[in-house]
Amino acid sequence: MTADTADSVALDPAALRNALADRILSLGTFRTAAVEAAFRTVPRQVFLPGVDLAEAYQPKVVVTKCAPDGTAQSSASSPNIVAGQAEDLDVRPGHTILEIGAATGINAALLAEITGPHGRVVTIEIDQDLTNGARAALDKAGYSTVTTICGDGATGWAEAAPYDRIIVTAGAWDISHAWWDQLAPAGRIVIPIRLHGSGLTRSLALDLQPTGELVASHARVCGFVPMRGGSAADTTASIPLTDQITLNTATAESPDIPALAQTLTHPAHTHWTGINVTDHEPVEHLDLWLATTTRGFARLSVSADARKSGIADPALRWAGAGLYNGGTLAYITARPHGPVSREIGVVAHGPDSRRLTARLVDLLRGWNHTRPARPIITAHRAGTSDDELGPGVRIERPDTRLTISW
Ligand SMILES: C[S@@+](CC[C@H](N)C(=O)[O-])C[C@H]1O[C@@H](n2cnc3c(N)ncnc32)[C@H](O)[C@@H]1O
Repeated sequence: MTADTADSVALDPAALRNALADRILSLGTFRTAAVEAAFRTVPRQVFLPGVDLAEAYQPKVVVTKCAPDGTAQSSASSPNIVAGQAEDLDVRPGHTILEIGAATGINAALLAEITGPHGRVVTIEIDQDLTNGARAALDKAGYSTVTTICGDGATGWAEAAPYDRIIVTAGAWDISHAWWDQLAPAGRIVIPIRLHGSGLTRSLALDLQPTGELVASHARVCGFVPMRGGSAADTTASIPLTDQITLNTATAESPDIPALAQTLTHPAHTHWTGINVTDHEPVEHLDLWLATTTRGFARLSVSADARKSGIADPALRWAGAGLYNGGTLAYITARPHGPVSREIGVVAHGPDSRRLTARLVDLLRGWNHTRPARPIITAHRAGTSDDELGPGVRIERPDTRLTISW
């Protein structure tokens, strides 16, 4: 290929679109021809004005709006996650779909492609400027039948209910009562829900049962900008340990913040467990298992620089999962063990390192014994009595009672 041809491929949206779809295909995310075809059709660049063409088709999140403190408020989500959520949503031609979090409008366009001319898509966005942008892009790209609403998505949009499918594309804390009310019988809701105050999130695909509860068929590891508005809950204690390392945990568990802020001033004690995992094993829910098995769960967020300098090296696979007790922290790390396998270890800092390490190692041995591949998650509406709930750990939210078992 000459340099000229390479440039024209690089600048050809159709070629970039197919390259992105090929990549998602290679990751095994597409399960249906309809979702794949939508990705090969929707012109992402129209929804990302001002973004470099090549960047619009990169397989990564594109942040499009930040709060004054620099935290992301809106983005075009990572295409692979968008594809995964679209597959989990199981859209059929003719479905009526409610999306929460229009942002760029890309996902609404994808959903419109999948549900087709006899379906309907309504998308809600909390910010007026973003709603206007999504509207303009949807019209320009030929998706004028999508309804865009500016408002708090937690209230849904009763005018077009019931919805066969509801998809939430911002990190939710609750399944709002409006979504429960507006979901059609046997409907499905796909929602990235924070299952722990540390920010630990799974995108769940929940099916409405004839008996009124929602049962999850998928739990996908993900991260989303948090929902804002009335249903948002500030439940995360973010404790800076250095200027590049933060410990996130649940305020509800009353962490000793001043003591924890000092943890990294104590020397590191590392213990290797002899527990090995391969890249191919379904072990991605270890962090959720830990969070639902014991108190004092936390997640360590470490910048690439801090990791390189060796100050802290949590296993990325489990999003910095660890435990704290008082001013002591023990987190999960990993080291190579053969060509495709890694050994799990524990790094502890603080006055009670020995005991907390022993507790975390015991828990990891318990997990290793059964290695539960996926959680069993059920959601009931708030007000459901205890004896109607399934077994497992209970997570209480204003509108929802969740249970998680393994
Ligand atoms: C990750 S972006 C969604 C990506 C989007 N679906 C796309 O295709 O580009 C999350 C969006 O949710 C919006 N949002 C946050 N809280 C909301 C709420 N309560 N109601 C509606 N939208 C909300 C944010 O402003 C942001 O634009």
